Amino acid sequence: MTVTALIPAAGRGVRLGADEPKAFVDVCGRPMLTRAVSGVLASGVVDRVVVMVPADLVDATAALVPESVRVIAGGAERIDSVRAGLQTLTDGDPDDIVLVHDAARCLTPAAVFERVVAAAGDRYWAGAIPGIPVADTIKTVNAAGGVTGTPQRSGLRAIQTPQGFRLDVLRRAYAQNGLDDVATDDAGLVEAMGGAVRVVAGDPLAFKITTEWDLRTAERVLVAE
Ligand code: CTP
Ligand code: MG
Repeated sequence: MTVTALIPAAGRGVRLGADEPKAFVDVCGRPMLTRAVSGVLASGVVDRVVVMVPADLVDATAALVPESVRVIAGGAERIDSVRAGLQTLTDGDPDDIVLVHDAARCLTPAAVFERVVAAAGDRYWAGAIPGIPVADTIKTVNAAGGVTGTPQRSGLRAIQTPQGFRLDVLRRAYAQNGLDDVATDDAGLVEAMGGAVRVVAGDPLAFKITTEWDLRTAERVLVAE
């Protein structure tokens, strides 16, 4: 059984607002993307890595990462980037494990990869995703800002990556039509076809660098280590 990590890194990083695409922004002197790739390789549970980056940065990225890492062009939306990565796995066994892991979660500890890979190999489940309990109360609202509901917080989890699935499951999930604009994570696509997805323990360090505040937080974490 082979474990492949697909790393979507082709976003523009609009909310971060840096001059370059987000994955190429330095976190304490090293680009987010190379930190993410190093973290995946250091976990020891991944056999191969495919990175999806903006088309004009494919060659520059290949020079930044180990030779064993495949670098390809991503697409307009995250879902297009992941689909491009999946399409490279033509020689894969249906039972192989595929992890999808955001480059923007570049401080994710090895233990999270270990837990997801272990759980994703369990045939009872269609996939495994890391999640952490929610600290804030979450409300649903309508367009006017009116509160329409308050889900029980104890039953909520904030979901991170890596998300792990068997190759055949993820292929079928990504072959579905009409979901590209509604699914906000890979597990959502698997759930849409009736797959039972299991949440394992995530880690606060697997947070996604989205805004300037997140970038400063990541740098404070690294300085403190
Ligand atoms: N991503 C991607 N291809 C896209 C869009 C996003 O590979 N077309 C990747 C990002 O590079 C990131 C991950 O998906 O590693 C999660 O996306 P997000 O945090 O939203 O990053 P951006 O899309 O770059 O940021 P923003 O939405 O603020 O523009
Ligand atoms: Mg985005």
